[in-house]
Amino acid sequence: MDKIRIRGGKPLHGSITVGGAKNAALPLMTAALLTDETLTLTNLPILADINTLCNLLLQHGVGIRLAGAGGECAGRELELTARDVTNTTAPYDLVRKMRASVLVLGPLLARCGEAKVSLPGGCAIGARPVDLHIKGLEAMGAEIRIEGGYIVAKAPKGGLRGAEYVFPKVSVGATENLLMAATLARGTTVLVNAAREPEVTDLAECLVAMGAKITGLGTDRLTIEGVDRLHGARHMVVPDRIETGTYAMAAAMTGGTLDILNTRLDLIKAAVTALVPAGVEFTPIDNGVRVSRANGELVGVDVMTEPFPGFPTDLQAQMMALMCTARGAGMITETIFENRFMHAPELTRMGARITVHGSSALVRGVERLTGAPVMATDLRASVSLVLAGLAAEGETTVNRVYHLDRGYERLEEKLAACGADIERIRAEDD
Ligand code: EPZ
Repeated sequence: MDKIRIRGGKPLHGSITVGGAKNAALPLMTAALLTDETLTLTNLPILADINTLCNLLLQHGVGIRLAGAGGECAGRELELTARDVTNTTAPYDLVRKMRASVLVLGPLLARCGEAKVSLPGGCAIGARPVDLHIKGLEAMGAEIRIEGGYIVAKAPKGGLRGAEYVFPKVSVGATENLLMAATLARGTTVLVNAAREPEVTDLAECLVAMGAKITGLGTDRLTIEGVDRLHGARHMVVPDRIETGTYAMAAAMTGGTLDILNTRLDLIKAAVTALVPAGVEFTPIDNGVRVSRANGELVGVDVMTEPFPGFPTDLQAQMMALMCTARGAGMITETIFENRFMHAPELTRMGARITVHGSSALVRGVERLTGAPVMATDLRASVSLVLAGLAAEGETTVNRVYHLDRGYERLEEKLAACGADIERIRAEDD
């Protein structure tokens, strides 16, 4: 397995271009199942998860054409055409590779009236149930049973029916599945306590461009009036706010200055609200934001993860890495996932002082971290270890970087171009 080797202590200077959001691109790709016309996505990131979902959609019969870099932005351009959906089963061997595959459930049910989708199973950060996806689709008239590890779903004869569904807790994926299903349902659907993440809004904007009738975008109450069919569209994937926040913290932790481009400051408001008191300075620039330390030192602050517009759980591990060398202490509380502190013991190996009690971690800042061999356990934990390595004294080797490749495009190249001493060691070179 590939590793990443970092010799830390070098301030980052220069500019980094952010890609399209992974967590927007995935649902946007499944939305192609809702129409027999072509959906063209631009600013698509080049990531393992995107390739995995392409393979899943291909076996549903979706035609996929990958163009070069899209006109208006750096990412790739992908044309998806589901002229005929030839298979409504999403098999275990593909779904287990990437849980977001469950996002084909709503579109297949809406377009074809049936779907057999493998239960995604848990992952390192938690059990990740899909009960809300199921309950919401049942509220729209679907008959669903679990059989042999699969969700076996059938729409009523006349198709899914509009319904009002109140989410007992905020769920990004369940909101996206129901939002897509509702676009072709008979009648009106109201989703209450819906997720408001920018990736959900980006999906809704794309669906509207495809002819869907949706109001309440950006709020926790989405109203969808079902239509008979959707048509093709061209849509640019929203910039990746998690990548943006990650690079902002890299600049702050290394004491450098980074221009983070192809992104928007409004996408990371909650992270900015937490980072400014921690000693990080954000200056809006053309097409992005400049990030540096404000006055030379970082200060520990308390952070609690919450659904958007709160502090994103996908930036929690990176924030913990930043707080390891801040003056004073800070409390990090993870309210979204039940097991999302696996980076803590790895950071401790680098000299961090972290005490975990249930869903809270107290981080007491130390003068400096020291490089060490560490293990990536999940996507965001792995990038927090890279950040720690950039700031640490000495050499850090991050193992199992396949986690990283799922969500960060050419991370080591982008960081090396800004002065980091970082390289990928291919498994065969080892
Ligand atoms: C999306 O996951 C993201 N993934 C996650 O990013 C992100 O951390 C998460 O939203 C929260 O923002 C994609 O968009 C592909 P949820 P999702 O449904 O949709 C519970 C990353 O690193 N829940 O909002 O699976 C669930 O267990 C990944 O890029 C149920 O109980 O998250 C969790 O505790 C990690 N029943 C909470 O809700 C359900 O049916 C939020 O989950 C669904 C979820």
